[in-house]
Amino acid sequence: MALIAPSVPIPAEHQTSLRLGVLASGSGSNFEAVVAACRRGDLRAEVVSLVVNNPDCGATVRAGRLGVPCTVINHRHFVSREALDEALIAHFTPLAVDLLVMAGWMRIVSPLLCRSFRDRMVNIHPALLPAFRGTRAIERALAAGVTITGCTAHLVEEVVDGGRILCQAAVVVQPDDTPASLAPRIHAVEHRILPSAIALAGQLLTRAEA
Ligand code: GRF
Repeated sequence: MALIAPSVPIPAEHQTSLRLGVLASGSGSNFEAVVAACRRGDLRAEVVSLVVNNPDCGATVRAGRLGVPCTVINHRHFVSREALDEALIAHFTPLAVDLLVMAGWMRIVSPLLCRSFRDRMVNIHPALLPAFRGTRAIERALAAGVTITGCTAHLVEEVVDGGRILCQAAVVVQPDDTPASLAPRIHAVEHRILPSAIALAGQLLTRAEA
């Protein structure tokens, strides 16, 4: 069972049209959910570029299947976080993206990227923030014995997994849950709230610019 808030997504006709850049490190299921929401017309946006830091990750395979341009910017080739983030800024700026979506981007971003994309970066996290910030959030929530957990989509600020919360969804933990049984239920609701959060971030941007 999952509870989503806000329960009413912004109708497409009231959304700002957005160009999106997506960052992913892993399987890319959230990336695919965003592309699917765009193509269904639920999210008035286009994913113009996917960047991955792991050349062989699942997200690259999905990008090939979906026909989304994919670029590898491998963090192992950079001397610092700032140098990696400079490369990201140099990649995304000419593409004129409105928002960057961190869809399982397993790198801590530097203040440089935060400043360049202030209010224009969205992250998805597999816990009900501000609880269980950081890595292994699903395992840590289970170990803490919570009976309700979930996921959060939020704006990215310089504090890891901090920043204004855009959407959250709650997932009930079953007594016999393991990380392997709970994770797919959390991922399923991530796929629902991330497109809504992107639409909301776009709307906040438009209001700020008005
Ligand atoms: C998601 O659980 C997300 O919350 C976390 O990384 C995972 C990425 O999964 N930040 P996927 O690559 O989108 O399948």
